[in-house]
Amino acid sequence: MLKNMSIRKRIVVMLAVVYVLSLVLAVGGGGYFLQQDVEREARQKTELFATVMSNAARYLHNVIRPKAEELVPEDAYFPEGSVGVIMLTEVARYIQQQYPEYIFRFASPNPLNPDNLSNDFEDKIIAGFEDGKYEAWQGFAERDGKKFYAVAKPLIAGSDCISCHDTPDVAHPSQVERYGTRSGYGYLEGDVVGARFIYVPTDVIQKEAIKRIMYFSAIFSVFFLLVLFAVDRFVVSSVVKPIEHIVDVAEDISRGKLDREFHVETNDEIKMLADAFDRMKVSLAKAMDILRQ
Ligand code: HEC
Repeated sequence: MLKNMSIRKRIVVMLAVVYVLSLVLAVGGGGYFLQQDVEREARQKTELFATVMSNAARYLHNVIRPKAEELVPEDAYFPEGSVGVIMLTEVARYIQQQYPEYIFRFASPNPLNPDNLSNDFEDKIIAGFEDGKYEAWQGFAERDGKKFYAVAKPLIAGSDCISCHDTPDVAHPSQVERYGTRSGYGYLEGDVVGARFIYVPTDVIQKEAIKRIMYFSAIFSVFFLLVLFAVDRFVVSSVVKPIEHIVDVAEDISRGKLDREFHVETNDEIKMLADAFDRMKVSLAKAMDILRQ
């Protein structure tokens, strides 16, 4: 097929093939690296979120709790001043007012607060912690049809948890009144009782990555179109036009117009071709002269 095409068309077809192949390669390769970027960025965001929250919990334990224990009467119910789970869940609620798609939660299959009941995905991760499959979990997850990058860390019951999570009789009456006796009790020391989950949405990062690929493809295409145009102009001026001129002059000479001259301005293969024709023209003229005599 290529054999029947003009040189100009052949070069255009060849460049178009190079364009398509390099675009596929660049978009494919770029897509892979951008996907890595999406994961890295999501991981950074979850890490930052986790660090802020665990340091807020540290502040509660180091500063507020000792003071609260000192100031709050023994029989008063003030878990907000001592329990990290409660404080962080509340802080997360404030954060969600500004970042509604970010989720921070303590999930448990046996919660005091039904809002903290783990879903199927969280149950699976928590079961993994119980079986000792991993000490922390991270990866992509779907929640309410949206894609997230999620990290999870187990919550293990210690001796200081039992006062509230053992049995309703031991717990503070206000806690029992507020949460009921249905679930959230029966913790045993050393048990995995739930996990801290952080979900960072990936669709915004993903969309940004796709936009970057589109921009790149558009710029690459414009650049290639300019190259194609420049190469085409070059081929026309340095190959096609000179060859057409040589064909035109050679045809005239073959019809006997021996006064026609080849005009080639470059010093290349075209010039060699024109010189060869010139020599042939001289030989032809000599042969005609001999014939005429
Ligand atoms: C002073 C009482 C108290 C102590 C001590 C306490 N918790 Fe809780 N815990 C609560 C209350 C109250 C909630 C419900 C918070 C809410 O409404 O979101 C809760 C919630 C939780 C949840 C989320 C699921 C649920 O039950 O709603 C987990 C998991 C949890 N606690 C684990 C622990 C662990 C582990 C410890 C020990 C390190 C601990 N708690 C110590 C009172 C306590």
